[in-house]
Parts: sequence; C-alpha cells; structure tokens
Amino acid sequence: MNNSSHTAATVYVPRDSAARSVGADEVAGALQRAATRGDFAIDVVRNGSRGMLWLEPMVEVVTPQGRVGYGPVTAEDVDGLLAAGLLDGADHPLRLGLVDELPWLARQTRVTFARVGVTDPLSTRDYVEHGGLAGLRAALDMTPADVVAEVTESGLRGRGGAGFPAGIKWNTVLGCADELKFVCCNADEGDSGTFADRMVMEGDPFLLIEGMTIASHAVGASEGYLYIRSEYPDAIATMREAIEIAREHGWLGKGILGSALDFDLHVRVGAGAYICGEETSMLESLEGKRGTVRAKPPIPAIEGLFGKPTVVNNVLTLTTVPVVLAKGAKAYQDLGVGRSRGTQVFQLGGNIARGGIVETAFGITLRELVEDYGGGTRTGRPLRTAQVGGPLGAYLPTSMFDLPMDYEAFAEAGAMLGHGGIVVFDDSVDMAAQARFAMEFCAEESCGKCTPCRVGSVRGVEVIDKIVAGTHRDENLALLEDLCDLMTDGSLCAMGGLTPMPVRSALTHFPDDFLGGRRLLDIQPVQASRPIQPVQVSQPVQASGVRTEGTA
Ligand SMILES: Cc1cc2nc3c(=O)[nH]c(=O)nc-3n(C[C@H](O)[C@H](O)[C@H](O)COP(=O)(O)O)c2cc1C
Ligand code: SF4
Repeated sequence: MNNSSHTAATVYVPRDSAARSVGADEVAGALQRAATRGDFAIDVVRNGSRGMLWLEPMVEVVTPQGRVGYGPVTAEDVDGLLAAGLLDGADHPLRLGLVDELPWLARQTRVTFARVGVTDPLSTRDYVEHGGLAGLRAALDMTPADVVAEVTESGLRGRGGAGFPAGIKWNTVLGCADELKFVCCNADEGDSGTFADRMVMEGDPFLLIEGMTIASHAVGASEGYLYIRSEYPDAIATMREAIEIAREHGWLGKGILGSALDFDLHVRVGAGAYICGEETSMLESLEGKRGTVRAKPPIPAIEGLFGKPTVVNNVLTLTTVPVVLAKGAKAYQDLGVGRSRGTQVFQLGGNIARGGIVETAFGITLRELVEDYGGGTRTGRPLRTAQVGGPLGAYLPTSMFDLPMDYEAFAEAGAMLGHGGIVVFDDSVDMAAQARFAMEFCAEESCGKCTPCRVGSVRGVEVIDKIVAGTHRDENLALLEDLCDLMTDGSLCAMGGLTPMPVRSALTHFPDDFLGGRRLLDIQPVQASRPIQPVQVSQPVQASGVRTEGTA
C-alpha cells in the first residue's frame, strides 16, 4: 500500500455525462485497477459534476483538510498522480487546491445545486446527511394551503422560461375540486446552451423527486410524470433508478414518510422535438399524441394532463422548492433583485474559456458571468455577443453586458432570461447568419398549427437571404419588420411569437452584418487559441446579487 494512511482514501470521479464524455469513466477505471492490483487503497465514488466543465474530468480526493481537486485528469495521468501522492492531496501540476475554496465555486451561492458534485447521487444516506428530505418533512407538517403560501412568499418564479410565479400556479391547481390531479415536470431542456436540468437530474435526482412530492402534497395530486428528452440517456437512467430507490425507502408510493400522502412518479421520454418543451405540447406528448400546441385557455392548471388540473413546472423550479421549504421563504426571498428573487442557475456555453454552471442570486451582470466567470472566449478572439435565454432569446452586444440578470431588466431591454442559458460568440460570428438560423430553426421545429409561425418562418429565411444578397434591401428590410410583427402578434405560442427576438436583436445591434458578407473581410486574424486560465474570478462579489431596498 502506498497511501500513507493505509485506510482506503475516498476519491470522487464524476458520473455526470459531460465528465463522461471527456473520459471520466476511463479515469475511474484506472483508479479502480490500481486499487484492485493492491497498489493503493482507494474507494472510488462517482459523484455529480461541480459544474466547472473545462476541468472535467475533475477528480477529488478526501483529505483531513477537505476535498482536494485535480483536473482535467486523463486515464494516462492516473498512475503518475498516484505515485505523486494523489491520495494525500499532494502537489502535482494538475492539483487545483481545496475544491470548496476554488474562487469560481466559492463565489457562487449554491442553493438548488448545493449537493450537486458533492454527494453520490444515488446514495440515500448521502442525501439525508446533506440536508435531503428536510423540505418534504417540513411540508408534510403543513397544510397544503400553507405550503402554497410559502412557495408564493418565496417569490420563486418558473425557471423554464416564462418566469411565472410558481405559488400562483400551484394555488390554481389547489383550488380545483377534482379528485385526480397531476404534477408534471418539464425536463425537455431543448434550449441551446442549457444543461442545468440534466446536471441536477444526474447529480441530485432525489431532489427532483422531493420537489415533485412536495408539489403533490401542496396541490392534492396523486401522480406525477417526468418528461425527459431522449437526448439525455444518463439522466433518464439515473432518474429511473432514483425513483426505484425512493419507492423502496418509502419516499414515494403510499403513506410517504409515514404521512397520509400517496404519490407516485413515472418517467416518460420525449422524441427529439423542441416544441414538446412547450407545456401543452408536452402534455399532448405525455398523452401519447403528436406534440402540437393546445390553445389556451383552458390553462393546464385547470385542464391539463388527460383534462385534469395539472402543475407543469421546470426541473429547476421543482428542485428549488425543497430548499424553500427547508430554509423558509424569507431566506430565499432575501436573495435577488426586484421581482427576480432567489438564485438562478446560469449555464455558460458556446465560445467560452470556462464554461459550466454558475448559480448565483439574480442581479449579477452578464459581464461578470461572461468575463469574470467565463474568462471571455475560448478562441481568445474579442467577444462580440452572447445569446441569452435559448434559441428564442436576444443577441446582446458587449455594450449591453452590464445589464443585470433580472427578468424585468431583460424584458425592458428587448431580451429574456429564459432558462438561464448564455451562449457566447467571438467577433467571427456572422449575425445575419444567426438571424437566418433563428427563422430556420423555427421553420424546422414549428408544430405547424398556426400560419404566422409555420409559414412566417419559411418566409423569414427567404427575406433574410434577399437582404444579405442585396436584392431590394430596403423593401425587404421593411418586409422582415412586418413579418416579425405578424409573428409576434399572431402566433399561438411563444415558438413563433419569440422567434423575432433574436432576429430583431441581430438587426438592431449588428446592422452591418446584413450588408452581405462585408464583415467577414473585416475580421483580423488573432493568434492561435490561448491556454485556458486557471480557476480564478477577478473580483470578490460586489453589490450585485444583494437584495435591494423597496423591491418585491
Ligand atoms: C417552444 C417552447 C419550448 C419550451 N421548452 C421548454 C423546456 O424545454 N423546458 C421547460 O421547462 N420549459 C419549456 N418551455 C416553457 C413551458 O411552456 C412552461 O412555461 C414551463 O415548463 C413551465 O414551468 P415553469 O413555470 O416552472 O417554468 C418552452 C416554451 C416554449 C414556447
Ligand atoms: S407558434 Fe408555431 S409552434 Fe406555436 S402553435 Fe403556432 S405553429 Fe405551433
């Protein structure tokens, strides 16, 4: 045995699919082989990812000082790391330091993601030892109406995109007299650059089960459905396994935790349509039909799944509920700005040096996220824009990067926060092509039910092509404006209704790009991509993210 303690050292290697995609399984395998050979006493535990994706696979070893991180580690690095004293947290070029003290992580306010990356996702013992079930136990001691009031009081708004207050939606379902009601979780997560739903399902699945169970108690539902996109096989497998374990432990089923609550949960898998993330399409799909949008009213809270009152919430909304119940509405309310209370799990992606999860109170600026946390572009070229809020969100120029991440501030700026995805682009991006892509995406993903979206998006592609080609540019620009108005005002759902947002933002902020290939000639070469900087954020947290007076 080579580790000094002679007792098995606990080494965490993520099982998260982002970490697996860059070799986490191979790293775990190499550590396991070293243990099997008897060279080292190692207890390999597969955790979720801490969300510092550029460091994956990140390996953590438990030491008396805390968990020491190394990354990114390859399977080929393992023998050298072990020889250098990995199991004692020894120095090595890949050593990152104490994980909890890494500035990128320490500066965040992890509420929903508090356990992700810390625990073994399928260990019930880990879950309970790290505060799991406290929210459900608190809720079960309260009347349904009091639980709804607590969620309303917290200011929690839906994290799926629209930002509708969760408590108000729940109150509508609670107020319905029907015997059969449902709780449906929307885990379709189709927005470009988003992965928080996936990471929490893979990294802390019992949290989602707990959140859905609390919702069922609050509104009087007996059955739940979890609609997960087919592109997430690991999340699907993890959630299925977690549900089985939860049933075995009396966390689901009849008489949950010895109470009178009966609630069970089923996983359903989507089939790759973006529109099935729209809640009424999702309900159609759950009912076994083609995913087309339903006209509203009736709203799903009154006539939802199989015509019954239904809570539809996003994964992040439901996984935040247990914390609200465990810590109280006020603690959650105290974070954020204006009417954007609590934290948002921002997802940094695209051309970014340090991509991953940043959970922090609303009010942080886009610049802090992209430049301080993200470290600018991965290519090293100048930043040009970020698209916030998925494929229907606005492209914001760097001159607007001081905008606070706040639902209302974004709406005023002609943008939206959506699900918290931020996709970064350098100066080589062609914004006319991005605008064209928005229309093309809509044409591809439209459910086809209404004309402004189904036909408008196809015409949108054609008109943008004509503008870029210089064919009757002024007339076609006016036509594009008209088309955007028509789609905004006349579409049945936000798919057609919001597609003009990226198009308009590209036209407003980057008009030169529509002059036909001119920009490409302007772009100067920049030296080859620079190395990614170590885990640092420049400044300690300033006022952003702190509650402001007279809000909410
Ligand atoms: C085209 C389209 C796609 C959507 N995709 C998703 C999605 O993938 N996940 C999600 O939670 N909400 C999505 N939504 C929003 C849902 O319709 C709905 O507002 C949400 O699931 C409600 O949950 P929340 O209140 O917790 O946000 C989408 C909406 C539209 C119009
Ligand atoms: S806007 Fe598009 S996706 Fe929405 S209902 Fe109309 S055709 Fe379907």
